[in-house]
Amino acid sequence: MKLPAGPIEWKDEYNVNISFIDEHHQKFITILNRILEISDQNFCGEKVSEIFFSLVYYAEHYLIREEIYFKEYPNFQHHQELHNEFIERITRLQQDYKNGKDNVCVEIASYLYAWFENHILKYDKEAVNYLKEKGHN
Ligand SMILES: [Fe+2]
Repeated sequence: MKLPAGPIEWKDEYNVNISFIDEHHQKFITILNRILEISDQNFCGEKVSEIFFSLVYYAEHYLIREEIYFKEYPNFQHHQELHNEFIERITRLQQDYKNGKDNVCVEIASYLYAWFENHILKYDKEAVNYLKEKGHN
């Protein structure tokens, strides 16, 4: 996956207009931009541990809050599985980083960028749109 050359800027079209979700997604972009900024593609700076800290916090607090909101969504179970895969992947990447594996930063950046495109902009949006149609707010 080709990574963006500069930081990702939040666009209006990214909003799902559920304030806590939009807030979480913006927070995610901040983390993604941070890793794009501190990794020079081959080399992971020391500050990467701070990224993992933010990601674990993100997963523990934000994904779970989203799951509570998405409970009545028919694809909820699948959505929750994707969140769990995210958490597992982050844990594995953190382990790889600790073990000094090469190119971990590129892997993290690519994974987060793919998550932004495939999960945040697609799955989350679909779930919110479905729930809104059903009169949820
Ligand atoms: Fe999600």
